[in-house]
This record gives sequence, structure tokens and C-alpha cells, in this order.
Amino acid sequence: MKRFFIFSGFILCLVSFRQDHQHELWPIPELKLFPSLPDNFKVPTKAQVKLGRFLFYDPILSADSTFSCSSCHQQEYAFADGEMRFSRGISGKLMSRNTPPLFNLIWYPSFFWDGRAESLAEQALHPVRHPDEMNLNWTLAEKKVLRSKRYQELFNEAYGDLPIDSNLICQALAAFQSVLFSQNSKYDKVLRGEAYFSALEYQGFQIANLQSKGDCQQCHSTDANALATNLSFSNNGLNAALHSAAYPDSGKGRSNGLDQSGWFKVPSLRNLLFTAPYMHDGRFKTLEELIDFYSESVQEPYNIDSKMQYAHRGGVHLSSQEKKALLAFLKTLTDSSFIRDTSFANPYN
Ligand code: HEC
Ligand code: HEC
Repeated sequence: MKRFFIFSGFILCLVSFRQDHQHELWPIPELKLFPSLPDNFKVPTKAQVKLGRFLFYDPILSADSTFSCSSCHQQEYAFADGEMRFSRGISGKLMSRNTPPLFNLIWYPSFFWDGRAESLAEQALHPVRHPDEMNLNWTLAEKKVLRSKRYQELFNEAYGDLPIDSNLICQALAAFQSVLFSQNSKYDKVLRGEAYFSALEYQGFQIANLQSKGDCQQCHSTDANALATNLSFSNNGLNAALHSAAYPDSGKGRSNGLDQSGWFKVPSLRNLLFTAPYMHDGRFKTLEELIDFYSESVQEPYNIDSKMQYAHRGGVHLSSQEKKALLAFLKTLTDSSFIRDTSFANPYN
């Protein structure tokens, strides 16, 4: 009898240990000079992140089980899609916009190049049912997931008895994506006092943040904001459109009396070495081309963002030495540990 009590005590202990472990929160890394965590952000549990990671890498969410989120969002490219200007999904058709990288996402008020999804969970609904991406209707997606014993366990650990439906699947995908923090580049180390910029890098940092030089800080400030984006939308003068129909892609378009045709999300300057080609349409293959654009080739469409102060003279006009310095600085925002972090890697490998 005594033995039985000891034994059942041991089992109880194990069970409660397991449950504590399930409720353990994901550890948030040091985020120097990042904005504080948004009020609506609830730190997910480790079990929720684990479930989301399995789903992110699992082709189960596509019609013929050949495509996963990670088919287009690959860790080695900071979750962008490598050299592909446009990714191909399940139909073989090219997407119409460049696949964006995924990191430091929780601060964005909306998602997609045109901001049409208001949360990460809402965003995740789209690629699964999009005929050219994963082409699976959500009723079938729920059925496929429900049939899997592994997912029954993972959902139970992450969300207890809540019903497994599209909403919960998207919550889990959002949980995984919400902890993709990239905060360990040389730039971050300099902010934390663990490294120094070279003279050239420091010159580039100043060029990026000085109104009289690169003037990038209007939209991608790096001296006040480690996200390197103002989280907003802008028209940075890629096209010389005279009216809204002249844009090849209308971007945010017109709504609420605003004409934001040709306005797109301001991307971060982080991890650029992994995310070429650049811009919503992947038009620039290299950072040199991109810097030349901001320096000499800015267009002046009718509804350009007034923050592009030098558009009337075609750009900010940097010397070739200044361009080199700016490039050297941009490279310091490269976070190699992010693309190697095994806690974000394919769990099926
Ligand atoms: C076929 C390639 C492809 C697949 C598969 C895919 N995506 Fe994407 N993803 C894209 C493209 C292209 C965009 C940009 C589309 C746009 O802005 O209109 C995008 C945008 C996003 C964004 C918005 C990022 C931002 O900065 O606004 C998130 C988040 C995202 N995808 C997550 C996912 C998740 C989660 C899955 C799986 C359920 C997934 N993607 C599957 C190609 C893909
Ligand atoms: C007025 C706002 C604004 C200013 C100023 C600005 N940008 Fe941008 N930047 C944007 C927008 C908007 C995009 C995306 C445009 C698109 O794809 O249509 C962008 C895209 C980029 C990208 C591409 C990132 C990617 O992942 O594709 C880089 C790199 C970049 N900008 C660097 C700079 C640099 C360097 C400067 C200063 C020389 C600068 N920007 C000035 C708004 C701005």
C-alpha cells in the first residue's frame, strides 16, 4: 500500500511538472532600443510556439500536401524566399509580389505589402485557401489536422480543450511567428555595448540617419528605433505615375478618402543580406542598385510621400564613398544567429 502511494505521488508529480512546463512562457530576448512590447501582445507559451512551428513547416495545410508556409518562407533567407523575385505556389503560377521576410512582426499594426490583414492570425487564413498558394479550403484543412494524433496531442498541450478549428490553427501559426525576434546583429551588439562600428560603418550610420545626407531615418530610423522601420506605409518614388491607374500595382490603393495608390509597407533594414531581391516587386537584385536608386533615380509620382524630401531632384545624391559607407552600415544589421537559431528550424529534420 505504502509503495502504491509513493508510486502515485511520483506520477502526480510528473503530471504536474508536465503541466507547468506546458504553461511556461516563451523567453523574450533583450530588445535594446526596440519599442516596448505592444499592449495587445500576449507572450505565447512554449507549447503554443512548438505547435505553431510544426504547423508552419507541415505541408498538411495544402491541398495535395506538398506546400507548407516554409516552402516560401525559408529560415536561411530570414524567412523570405531566396533569390526568387516571385515565389511559385501549388498552382505553379508566380505570385504577384515578392515574398517578405518574417521577423520582429509583433509591432506591425497590419500585414502584407498593402496591409490588408490586421493581425498575424488573420494573415494566416489567406495563404492556406489561396488557389495559387496552398489551395486548401479551411473545412478540409481542419479535417486533415483533426485526423492527426500528433496534432491532437500538440493542441491539447498548447490550448487544452479548445476546439481545433481554423481560428486555433491560425492562432498557433501566429504564436510561432510572433517570437521570431531578430536582435543579435552587429548593430544590436553596438547598441548593447558589446561591439564597435568601424569608422566606415559609423559614417554609414550617420548618413542613414542625417536629414542632410541619406535621409533614410524619415522611414527607417536606426538611431531611435531598432526595428529600422516606422511600421507605416509610404510611396518612395519607385514609379513616375501621373494618376492612380498608372501604377502597375496599386498597393494600399484608395480608401477613406485617401489616395495611397502605389503606397506599400515600409520594410525593415534588417537582414538585407539574406532577403534580396528588394521592394514589393523585387525589382532590385543588389543593395548597390537600391542605394543608387535612393541616390539618383527617385521618381516623383503625383502622390509621393512628402517625407521623400529630395524627390524633386531625383534623390539624396551621395558620393561613391558615401554609398560605400551606407552599404557597410546596412550590412551591420545582418543577424546570422537568427537564420541559424535551431528553435526556429524545421522540426521534422
Ligand atoms: C507560395 C508562397 C507562399 C506560401 C506558401 C506562404 N506565403 Fe506568406 N507570403 C507570400 C507572399 C508573396 C507574401 C506577400 C503578399 C502580399 O503582400 O500581397 C506573403 C506574406 C506573408 C506575411 C506578411 C508579412 C508582412 O511583413 O506583412 C506573413 C506573416 C506570411 N506571409 C506568413 C505565411 C504563413 C503563416 C504561411 C502558411 C500558412 C504562408 N505565409 C505561406 C508567399 C507565401
Ligand atoms: C519616405 C519613406 C522612405 C524613405 C525616406 C526611405 N525609404 Fe526605404 N523603403 C520605403 C518603402 C515604402 C519601401 C518599400 C517600397 C515598395 O516595395 O514599394 C522601402 C524599401 C526599402 C528597402 C527594401 C527592403 C526589402 O526588404 O525589400 C531598403 C533596403 C530600403 N528601403 C532602404 C532605404 C535607405 C537606405 C534609405 C535612405 C537612403 C531609404 N530606404 C529611405 C520607404 C522609405
